[in-house]
Amino acid sequence: MGFDGFGYRTAADIFREHAALSGFENTGKRAFDIGSLSAIGDSEFNALAPVQWPVPVSAAKTERFFGQGGFFTTDRKARLHAPERPEPQSPLSMEFPFRLNTGRVRDQWHTMTRTGLSPRLGAHFPEPFVEVHPEDAAKAKLFNGGFARLTTLHGTCILKIIFSEGQRRGSLFAPIHWSDSTASFARVGDLVAPMTDPYSGQPESKATPVRVEPVSFAFSGFALTRNRIDPPADAWWCRVAVKDGHGLLIASNDRLAVWWDMACGEKVAEYIDEPRGLYRAAHFVEGSLESCLFIGPTQTSPSWDAMKALFEADAVSEGQRRTVLSGKSSDGLADPGALVCACFGVGINTIRNAIGSGAACSVEDIGSALRAGTNCGSCLPELKRIIGDGRLAKAV
Ligand code: FES
Repeated sequence: MGFDGFGYRTAADIFREHAALSGFENTGKRAFDIGSLSAIGDSEFNALAPVQWPVPVSAAKTERFFGQGGFFTTDRKARLHAPERPEPQSPLSMEFPFRLNTGRVRDQWHTMTRTGLSPRLGAHFPEPFVEVHPEDAAKAKLFNGGFARLTTLHGTCILKIIFSEGQRRGSLFAPIHWSDSTASFARVGDLVAPMTDPYSGQPESKATPVRVEPVSFAFSGFALTRNRIDPPADAWWCRVAVKDGHGLLIASNDRLAVWWDMACGEKVAEYIDEPRGLYRAAHFVEGSLESCLFIGPTQTSPSWDAMKALFEADAVSEGQRRTVLSGKSSDGLADPGALVCACFGVGINTIRNAIGSGAACSVEDIGSALRAGTNCGSCLPELKRIIGDGRLAKAV
């Protein structure tokens, strides 16, 4: 291509060309026209507030798009169609009493082929999950943090359960991001009915009738390793991006001994409590945690976040090394908890501590104290919810 004409110095240079192009030979034929901004200066551009287009060079600014008519039809008149209220094409039934709403989470994109490689983005929701209203969950005998099987006429998945007061009753939400290469039973797209909208072709991916039931595993836990490992066949698992290694969240009904073989290495520190079904192993190399495996009854999983922080740390102190098999964060390495603000790596425990200590009472305070919420702002709704939960807890 030669790359002629790419001599831009600043974002303002590019914006001016973009604005000029929108107005080029545009005599009202194209809706997008910001031609009058094609000559703004650098400082004007840097201070530019949001602008409602069109703002053409030749005509007065319109307050309201199509306020004077002029639609993009041959006679410039609007065509109005009264659509029928769309009803889901698949009805609910005794067998499939819930509606499955599929979607996305804040920090992932489609099947995570790029975003799934980022430890920071993976820390927000590390595993495939289904969100359920607590009242629906009680009726279906689900517990928060447990596992649920979702079944539709088209497929089945096993997902971690998250209770959410914000979830509509009678409806379940499950994100679409995990595939067979990142999790064992989490291809949520397989659950969706093959019905499409007659006009747009959009699949009915937010209204598939679904059944939900609890699934129990004898053990659950995680492995953190420098080299990628494969879980035993039939285990529930999902892979999580972590710094300088691999994270594997796992659950299974295999005997405990099956997992022992996975924790290999010459200097493995082990903790085995067979009556309670606990197995923990850690392998250190030159002062850093090379790998660890923590398995236990599903309700007693030790802190993934605390161990991940230790695994990602450059060095592990003697004190931390001595307490590593407790699964709790040791002195000098606070457990940040599940990630809330991806931009600044701020976890929920850090935020709750700031609120609890009185250092932060508002989203602005959290921004000043921890920087969370001060960049892209995607975490602001979650920060507001955490502050609301804190107020509720104090009131109770
Ligand atoms: S996630 Fe971007 S500011 Fe918090």
